[in-house]
Amino acid sequence: MSTPILGATEAELRRDRTSVKWLAYEPDVLPLWVAEMDARPCPAVVDAVSAAMARGDTGYGWGPRYAGEIARYARDVWAWELDPGDAVVVADVMIGVSEMLRVLTDEGGPVVVSPPVYDSFFGFVEAIGRRRVDAPLTREGRLDPETLRAAFAAATAAGARAVYLLCNPQNPTGVAHAPAELAALAELAREYGVRVVSDEIHAPLTHPGTRFTPYLTVPGSEDAVAVFSPSKGWNLAGLKSAAVLAGPQARADLKRLHEVHTHGSSHLGEIAHVAALRDGREWQARLLEEVVANHDLLGRLLAEHLPEVGWVRPDATYLAWLDCRALGLGEDPAAVFRQRGRVALGSGPRYDPTSGQGFVRLNLATSPAVLEEAVRRMASVR
Ligand SMILES: Cc1ncc(COP(=O)(O)O)c(C=O)c1O
Repeated sequence: MSTPILGATEAELRRDRTSVKWLAYEPDVLPLWVAEMDARPCPAVVDAVSAAMARGDTGYGWGPRYAGEIARYARDVWAWELDPGDAVVVADVMIGVSEMLRVLTDEGGPVVVSPPVYDSFFGFVEAIGRRRVDAPLTREGRLDPETLRAAFAAATAAGARAVYLLCNPQNPTGVAHAPAELAALAELAREYGVRVVSDEIHAPLTHPGTRFTPYLTVPGSEDAVAVFSPSKGWNLAGLKSAAVLAGPQARADLKRLHEVHTHGSSHLGEIAHVAALRDGREWQARLLEEVVANHDLLGRLLAEHLPEVGWVRPDATYLAWLDCRALGLGEDPAAVFRQRGRVALGSGPRYDPTSGQGFVRLNLATSPAVLEEAVRRMASVR
């Protein structure tokens, strides 16, 4: 049997990791919060980056190679014929997202989002001086056409240019939106003249048995843009790069992205990402098997130790969105789990300021032993 990718012990991780996940809290707090994996690295990426360093190949990046590799991956994995000419490389996903929001909306203009959602969506909308309009997901975590319609109507009522910022698959719930849901979104966006920006960073983490639907493959999405990076799927957040991908009717908007942004990508990031997409697919498939096994394990652990906690098993991501309201730990159970249980999780209200009270996000991209210890610590606070 091969060495597990998610097999490092807590002691090894504390020794080897200097990233935010492992350093932000006191050393007795087990960290399962920020979306980094405790994965052993993908050998193809290690080889490519080490060889580039050894060669002194440490200059600026050249985007077309990166775009070409993304197009090849999209064709092989999602049967999506993406023209690399419709992709530009940017520093990271959120820079791609926020700069496209600047292009597609005006100062103070509306950006519709669907909480619970990646908390930085809120931060970036605020940071670029846009106005957030919420179109919450249903209780089951699905896109709701009636809620979207109301939000699109409100956002565009005064004639403003509006964007819907989609998270596909959804962080923190792990829902991979279904083709019919995305088609309904595209139809509504057309009806109200709302442009869609789809953040697809979690797409490679779609579990076997579920098919990921790239938004730009959905009928009616021709004027949308997507932003993609293998950084989440291969745990390469420290080696940043990403690409903005344009539908055929969004090519002119892509050209409006200022070249200062298209020059912001890291060359070593691109080298790492190209190696991941081209030579790291088997590694990633093994990783996903381990992630899925950890979801199974989490289900068993919750049933045994925390049966009051509500959890809908996701079809993508290594994240678990846990409804802890029945535990009676107040609005922010993550604070209680951290202070009393010494385990750090994502705080629900960060992902959904209106209805996230009582929820936490757990990152299970870690060893089964660490996951078991985390649930044991959570259960200890009752
Ligand atoms: C949905 C989503 N988008 C973007 C990011 C961050 O990507 P980047 O570091 O490339 O900006 C994350 C990180 O967790 C995420 O979950």
